[in-house]
Amino acid sequence: ETGFITLDPGYANTGSCLSAITYMDGEKGILRYRGIPVEQLAEKATFKETAYLLINGRLPNREQLTRFSVMLNDNSLVHEDLKTFYQNFPRASHPMGILSAMVNALRSFYPELGTLEEEITITMTRLLAKVRTMAAMSYKISRGHRVVYPRPDLTYCENFLNMMFDTPVRPYEINRAAVNALRVFWILHADHEQNCSTSAVRMVGSARVNLYAAISSGIAALWGPLHGGANQAVIEMLTTIQNEGGNYHKAIERAKDKNDPFRLMGFGHRIYKTYDPRAKIMKKMCDELLDSLQIDDPLLDIAKELEEVAVKDPYFVDHNLYPNIDFYSGIVLRAIGIPTNMFTVMFAIGRLPGWIAQWKESMDDPKWKISRPRQIYVGEREYDFVPIHARP
Ligand code: SDX
Repeated sequence: ETGFITLDPGYANTGSCLSAITYMDGEKGILRYRGIPVEQLAEKATFKETAYLLINGRLPNREQLTRFSVMLNDNSLVHEDLKTFYQNFPRASHPMGILSAMVNALRSFYPELGTLEEEITITMTRLLAKVRTMAAMSYKISRGHRVVYPRPDLTYCENFLNMMFDTPVRPYEINRAAVNALRVFWILHADHEQNCSTSAVRMVGSARVNLYAAISSGIAALWGPLHGGANQAVIEMLTTIQNEGGNYHKAIERAKDKNDPFRLMGFGHRIYKTYDPRAKIMKKMCDELLDSLQIDDPLLDIAKELEEVAVKDPYFVDHNLYPNIDFYSGIVLRAIGIPTNMFTVMFAIGRLPGWIAQWKESMDDPKWKISRPRQIYVGEREYDFVPIHARP
């Protein structure tokens, strides 16, 4: 639609790529997974269907979905020995550091990643099935609570919430509004073209390393506050504003001050120079979810008022700075009961199908080579070695 771009024939050497997975138009605020607008998927699809669509290129038919569901269920447990890994992390460890390490450790428990299509399929499904269990395990063990196992009678999203919040003294009651919000949250995060963490997965994967290690590198990249860590940073920013009396004007002025490293977290995007289409859906989800749960979160009011002022401010207008997905996503997670330090883990679980799809696409590309970006050398010209006694 935007005309064809010409790529250097050796595009694979530079880390750029041809991809058929996600289409984004940053000027028009368009996002489509395999051609389907994200708005329609958020309204009508399950997260499982969206994951299947991203990885396999088409929505599953009934038989394919049933087979995919059975594989996810059958692979949702983790090796019991992995519990000792969790128990030996310092209690204050960040869940993203734990998740990155644990996903990498899976290779030691499931070494059979050959070149056979079915082995790759089982590895991709195993990761999708286990990542929820591993995330919930890390939360339970960090609180000294008994680990809750996945159940065959629950959906993908229901299972995660049950593994997180079910306890012997207070069984978790499936809350439809929370399950739906989680479904939408994960669909909106499922893929986003060649962002930092996806590029890390492709780059590391291009060395033909195993999928677990490539995904582990994506988790590490996503952890950064300029990337997936922004959802946690937004809540911390809004909480600071609240604690200082709700004066969001100060945050806006600081964000404009070139001498101040402070940035308005959840605002701005490298590609979107208009409202992030995901942020629109997430903002609406906030209102629906908080209304349904009868929660009144003052941070949502602050976020809305801040947005209203910022988007009209000449600095933000001139710099094309609008809310991105992270600006409202933390409010949704808070309402569901997810602890703040797990917000980026939630992003990682959502992004996993996209990382896997992008990894698979690059592995399937016959022209794909190991990524080897080049540089422009700006250092010293050649000169001879200087012995220590002659050095200043
Ligand atoms: C995600 O790539 C993806 O698709 C990522 C993601 C995904 O789904 O994978 O969408 C997820 O990472 C969303 C972004 C989450 N991060 C944040 O919300 C952190 C706050 N945002 C910024 O740090 C920034 O906007 C980035 C990192 C998101 C994008 O930065 P760019 O494209 O590198 O832009 P830049 O840093 O070059 O800034 C351009 C100008 C600068 O001003 P000038 O020096 O040109 O005058 O805009 C200013 C910046 O100072 N600017 C901001 C700002 N973001 C950019 N000023 C104040 N507050 C901000 N948030």
